[in-house]
Amino acid sequence: MKISRRDLLRAALSGAAASALPRWAWAASAAPQLPVPPLFEPAPDGRVLLELRTGMHSFSPHLAASTWGISAPFLGPVVRLPTGRTARMEVRNGLGEPTSLHWHGLLVPSELDGGPHNPIAAGGVWQPELDIRQPPATAWFHPHLHQDAARQTYRGLAGMMILTDGGDRARGLPVTYGVDDLPLILQDRRFGPDGKDAYAPDVTDLLHGFQGNTLLVNGVIGPVARVPRGIVRLRLLNAANARNFDLAFSDGRAFAVIASDGGFLAKPVETRRIVIAPGERYELLVDFASGAAVELVTRPQARATSESGMGAMEGMVMPTPAGPAPLMRFEPDAARVAEIGTLPNTLDDPGAPDPSLSVRRRQFVFDEMTQANQPVVERISASGAAPEAGGMGDMAGMDHGAHTARPANSVGPALLPANSGLRMAMTGQAFALDRIDAEVRQGSHEIWEITSREMAHPFHIHGAHFRILSKDGMATRPEESGWKDVALIEKRAELLVRFAQPASRARPSMFHCHILEHEDLGMMGQYVTV
Ligand code: C2O
Ligand code: CU
Ligand code: CU
Repeated sequence: MKISRRDLLRAALSGAAASALPRWAWAASAAPQLPVPPLFEPAPDGRVLLELRTGMHSFSPHLAASTWGISAPFLGPVVRLPTGRTARMEVRNGLGEPTSLHWHGLLVPSELDGGPHNPIAAGGVWQPELDIRQPPATAWFHPHLHQDAARQTYRGLAGMMILTDGGDRARGLPVTYGVDDLPLILQDRRFGPDGKDAYAPDVTDLLHGFQGNTLLVNGVIGPVARVPRGIVRLRLLNAANARNFDLAFSDGRAFAVIASDGGFLAKPVETRRIVIAPGERYELLVDFASGAAVELVTRPQARATSESGMGAMEGMVMPTPAGPAPLMRFEPDAARVAEIGTLPNTLDDPGAPDPSLSVRRRQFVFDEMTQANQPVVERISASGAAPEAGGMGDMAGMDHGAHTARPANSVGPALLPANSGLRMAMTGQAFALDRIDAEVRQGSHEIWEITSREMAHPFHIHGAHFRILSKDGMATRPEESGWKDVALIEKRAELLVRFAQPASRARPSMFHCHILEHEDLGMMGQYVTV
């Protein structure tokens, strides 16, 4: 028996509503305070110590689980680095298995970046010295081990990084960390009916990316932040494996976007809604002067599928969103007036992108194909499963016979990307550690045309930032008009990429889909500079 790729994707789309999000009201007494990660700054000699370790973490008073973290049981500190200086990072791996730590958003040479070519052995120490020479921005760090980034990141290895030039007070921006400058790390998590927390993707999860049934901010469910009355800066990071957040406030209030992945916008951009894809960062200014409490909500996206993409193409009805789901609540403190009361008029103008700088065009396609360019389903059939109508769950439970050795601290047997028998590709070829996909001239600009086929994919590149020239046939949205390193691409985009940093042949730089399951399945390429 054989089912077509179309049938498989259809079954996947109509499958269990793993992403249906619960609605709840905040019971003031029960809601946890928003945890503010500790702020790490370099010692006088520039040293910053990060310890990767295992731990126990409570997502809520009733949901505790064994997790991983960075100098913490779950997630990591916020590392604030001054620009124009050298940070001497020291990463100690106490996890009992290899990992790596990638500086997502930092413009550093590939030799110093923790991609799949720079693993840290169990018990090992890695000490890259990072010269921070780029505009102020919000960046982050997470594992990038070959074929195992999704599980390791989900376990809890993610932290925010703030690059600062010390000029934010002069820019008229909030600067007090944890008070009016708040990191918000957005994630989702899947808890079983028994409250068990496990990363156990099935075929559907691999095809679409693993989405949870519960939303987290800074590692907890439904926190409350007490904020001063006035303007508060929110640094948003989407550190979820696959979920796009489509954010708004419950009272529909407007807010201003001041920065994207690579740094400030020319001026604050007022909007009432912002979509943030995995890997992306945005900085917002929100006015809490009225004193009214408000919730930050996300419109549920059934999956990372574009409305105009596969669903429409297949003539199917997308699952109906159950309404906006709350992420967290803000309660302004009547007794506390914020330092900043008005929006700045201007920020740092990145200028208009100049496509004439490009010395070359390249095309890349996000390909949901197997390595041999076969439809996904043929590989599944070949491995012995008999696909049944609506039987995606059965596939997930089938014996693949090729589970790799699992460390004791990891989750139970699951269809991990690496052992699933599935492969995804960039432009027809699944990622290979020893194949160079592009040679670019260091310091040059190129226009990269990226195409998505069946669903929207967030494109990301290491060691380089880009400007969006066009995306999905529409004018660039103002909040996406600055420097970026992730762009959610529903159909097709043209990106003007500036290759700022050296990428060596021994340790090339990556570009990939930031749905981490897709990355692990091979939707990734690598470039070197010449
Ligand atoms: Cu945040 Cu290569 O990834
Ligand atoms: Cu990255
Ligand atoms: Cu993808």
